Amino acid sequence: MQFCWNVRLIRQNHIGIKSLFCLVLMATILFSKLSIASTIDEVVQLRQIAQLAEYVGVDYASAVDNGQVINDDEYQEMLEFSQLIVEKTSINNNDFRSLNEKASALQRAISTKQNVNVVRQITSELRISLLAMMPELPLPKRLLSKEATFSLFENNCASCHGISGQGNGVLASGLEPAPTDFTDKTRAENRSLLGLFDAISNGLDDTAMPAFTQLKEQQKWSLAFYVGGLAFKSSSELTNPSQSISLQNWINYSPLKLSTETDGLTKNEIEGLRANPTLLFTNQSSPIAITKTQLAAASNAYKNEEYEKAKTLAVSAYLDGFELIENSLDARDKDLRKSIEGNLIKLRQVLSNAQQVNQFESLMEITVGQLHDAEELLTETTLSNEALFTASLVILLREGLEALLWLYWL
Ligand code: HEC
Repeated sequence: MQFCWNVRLIRQNHIGIKSLFCLVLMATILFSKLSIASTIDEVVQLRQIAQLAEYVGVDYASAVDNGQVINDDEYQEMLEFSQLIVEKTSINNNDFRSLNEKASALQRAISTKQNVNVVRQITSELRISLLAMMPELPLPKRLLSKEATFSLFENNCASCHGISGQGNGVLASGLEPAPTDFTDKTRAENRSLLGLFDAISNGLDDTAMPAFTQLKEQQKWSLAFYVGGLAFKSSSELTNPSQSISLQNWINYSPLKLSTETDGLTKNEIEGLRANPTLLFTNQSSPIAITKTQLAAASNAYKNEEYEKAKTLAVSAYLDGFELIENSLDARDKDLRKSIEGNLIKLRQVLSNAQQVNQFESLMEITVGQLHDAEELLTETTLSNEALFTASLVILLREGLEALLWLYWL
């Protein structure tokens, strides 16, 4: 539905067929099996299950090693949390059935002291399913400055977590569990920013970590990004990451998950961005740059005979990039806009056919050249920040919508 709003807001002159399509899409979503949680209570429940799953994934390594319990308290906690996840997901409805099966698999893996990778795989699948059931979070538009964030940390957190975040503040001694050491890299690699944000917002039961309800959303996000970066070093070369990533995915997934499952961003880039998150907010790629990147990736996928992936990337090249500047380009050169849009449609069609390599390559060359012209035309007048921001937010396609999009385009 977010997609429909985008389309409508950005392309008010094109709402005919698209709004019909959106209606069908909304109806399909309404009646589809995957229901998006609607009440605040449901969202809180889902977020909490996701948080529990993430904890199990993070802490299991300190409970079990090589099939043996190495810390009995931790192990008991793992058993308790996995039991809780099973209970919270035993709701008699279709959406929860598969969650509940995964929760039981997790419980079995823990009780049979499986390898940490098995446990992490299941907790990560659980989180993905849970996140898909939640409405998208309102995300921060900007972070507070480093200085303002540090001063918040100093005043509210350093007494326990220590001035440099190592978990050694003046109040730390005697606390059980001890305040988190944010410089512990193994832990940080497995923690999503959403998990950290939730800990700050809601506190952690049975620990000294209080809920910081008095802080504003932007303050809490700034702190989450700050503490989530302390274990990583900012690399000086990292001025412009090779690929864009949506803020939503950046927040939802741990660095480890992002480095194994997203194409493009290297481990170094991920760590650099964690250490210096302002790059995510200030260095947003322009929509045309996104289109070019996604087309190049589609072309690689096509050459590797990964046709489904190529199609998804080509759709993203349009939706997450070009679509956002169509109106601005229209105002400057309508023919160029029409021609690029037409070529992007042709490219998507050619991509579905393995036999059309030559056609594909020449079409790519023409389109990339035209995108270059469009970029020059548009940079003569700067793009509004809002278009840049939207572009970086919507870069990756919302899962599950692709099939419907293809029905519409082909
Ligand atoms: C009174 C002590 C205390 C204060 C003050 C405090 N914390 Fe904590 N914090 C803890 C303890 C204890 C834990 C739990 C560690 C555990 O469960 O292993 C924790 C855990 C966390 C976690 C979860 C980390 C993880 O990887 O699971 C985050 C995030 C966090 N604190 C952030 C903050 C921030 C930000 C502030 C200031 C706004 C703050 N804390 C203030 C004691 C405190």
